[in-house]
Amino acid sequence: MFILCMVIMATSAFALRPEEHTGKKPRIPLVSVRPLMAARNCQFRGKHFKKYFRVEGEPVVLRCPQARSWLQTSASPNLNMMWHKNDSGRMVPGEETRMGVQDGALWILPALQRDSGTYICTVRNASYCDEMSIELRVFEKTEASLPFTSYPQIVTLSTSGLLACPELSEFTHNKTGWSIQWYKDSALLGQDNKKFLSLRGTTRLLIHNVSMEDAGYYSCGLAFSHNGTRYNITRHIKVHVNQKEEEPIPVIVSPRKTILASLGSRLTIPCKVFLGVGIKSTSLVWWTANDTSIDNAYPGGRVSEGLDKEYSENNENYIEVPLVFDPVIREDLNTDFKCTVTSRMSFQTLRTTVKEDTVSSTFSWEIALAPLSLVFLVLGGICVHRWCKHRPGKGYSLTRMKTSYEDF
Ligand SMILES: *[C@@H]1O[C@H](CO)[C@@H](O)[C@H](O)[C@H]1NC(C)=O
Ligand SMILES: *[C@@H]1O[C@H](CO)[C@@H](O)[C@H](O)[C@H]1NC(C)=O
Ligand SMILES: *[C@@H]1O[C@H](CO)[C@@H](O)[C@H](O)[C@H]1NC(C)=O
Ligand SMILES: *[C@@H]1O[C@H](CO)[C@@H](O)[C@H](O)[C@H]1NC(C)=O
Ligand SMILES: *[C@@H]1O[C@H](CO)[C@@H](O)[C@H](O)[C@H]1NC(C)=O
Ligand SMILES: *[C@@H]1O[C@H](CO)[C@@H](O)[C@H](O)[C@H]1NC(C)=O
Ligand SMILES: *[C@@H]1O[C@H](CO)[C@@H](O)[C@H](O)[C@H]1NC(C)=O
Repeated sequence: MFILCMVIMATSAFALRPEEHTGKKPRIPLVSVRPLMAARNCQFRGKHFKKYFRVEGEPVVLRCPQARSWLQTSASPNLNMMWHKNDSGRMVPGEETRMGVQDGALWILPALQRDSGTYICTVRNASYCDEMSIELRVFEKTEASLPFTSYPQIVTLSTSGLLACPELSEFTHNKTGWSIQWYKDSALLGQDNKKFLSLRGTTRLLIHNVSMEDAGYYSCGLAFSHNGTRYNITRHIKVHVNQKEEEPIPVIVSPRKTILASLGSRLTIPCKVFLGVGIKSTSLVWWTANDTSIDNAYPGGRVSEGLDKEYSENNENYIEVPLVFDPVIREDLNTDFKCTVTSRMSFQTLRTTVKEDTVSSTFSWEIALAPLSLVFLVLGGICVHRWCKHRPGKGYSLTRMKTSYEDF
């Protein structure tokens, strides 16, 4: 009987061990992604998903990625924005006469290949400070750089296609009389050609009755003068012609409706969206808390959106935008979190709520007590057994043992 008890106890303990592990899991995050605390206690909010891919010899303007949400949440004029380059740690502009800061944006006039790297923007006032980094890569001005520096755009066969010359607002803002030149295979477009029309006062090019031959590389740009020097600003576009209007409808695949978490622990909820097969879609994915953007709902950054991750699995495209809690607090249990995806043809949201993981905490208590109760059981069994030896009716004792096992 004693040996039987020991065998049962040993197997129970063995079987319980993995569960004990999962019971404790929320308290030990598998990957530690704690925000890096930079010098002077400044919160590092991560790398911005956007990358600036530019060509040498042209002006480049880097905007502080976090400035927008900052300007919305604090009307404070006492903002101080500073830039530094990660590799050297040196402040920019510094001694570089090519660089200058204007309205918090870093101007590089003109950019050189050696300016490539990670730039960190620090925004602070008297009581708050945060930092975010962005990446700049400056390519040689050759055709080989085109695949890196081109923006993909899509037009549809036999319809009117519209292209946009991207990211020029720094150079057109506050200015009049600018016009965009469009080129395809170094031929100027929109002159006396009925096929293309450069829309005045905008950055757009209209293509009439799109044909398959309209696919390929386009370039567009404008002239820009600064302190008496003229620069050209060029953007490249890779145009893809779609057979017909059929952008796949994105589908949110996760998260689940409720997420279990322990108060005080870190939590990441990824919003995973299936974007369709093949062609890249124009979907945007973001999180809200009580129908407010995360940046506005949590200016302190306790809850934040992590970096977007776009990837393909068997030619199926996915995008994942994580919502990061550092840490989970009681208020989160009453907050309505939604992941939203929009594309040109659809809009979809999925709501998720955070629930306190009480099951795992009580469960781990039971697990902790289980071996102890087994010991009592075994001792009890031995006592009963001994006691019964001195009394007649062994059958009775066996039934008692059986029922006590069932109780357990
Ligand atoms: C600094 O910014 C934070 C966050 O927006 C704000 O709460 C605080 O009032 C600001 N402090 C000053 C002195 O402007
Ligand atoms: C800055 O550079 C260091 C060392 O090269 C690297 O560990 C760190 O991740 C970089 N920081 C950013 C924000 O890229
Ligand atoms: C743009 O215009 C506003 C007001 O019209 C002015 O305050 C600002 O300095 C101008 N910015 C630039 C870059 O010229
Ligand atoms: C568009 O071009 C195709 C041939 O490329 C032609 O058959 C069709 O009639 C044109 N449509 C219009 C509206 O011009
Ligand atoms: C403008 O250019 C002149 C000479 O070309 C230079 O001395 C001056 O520092 C420049 N000013 C700015 C603001 O870059
Ligand atoms: C800007 O583009 C024009 C027209 O393509 C060209 O004539 C001029 O030399 C270019 N200027 C610079 C500084 O590259
Ligand atoms: C969201 O709303 C709930 C209930 O109205 C409230 O308890 C909670 O604090 C709100 N959360 C945020 C982040 O404002």
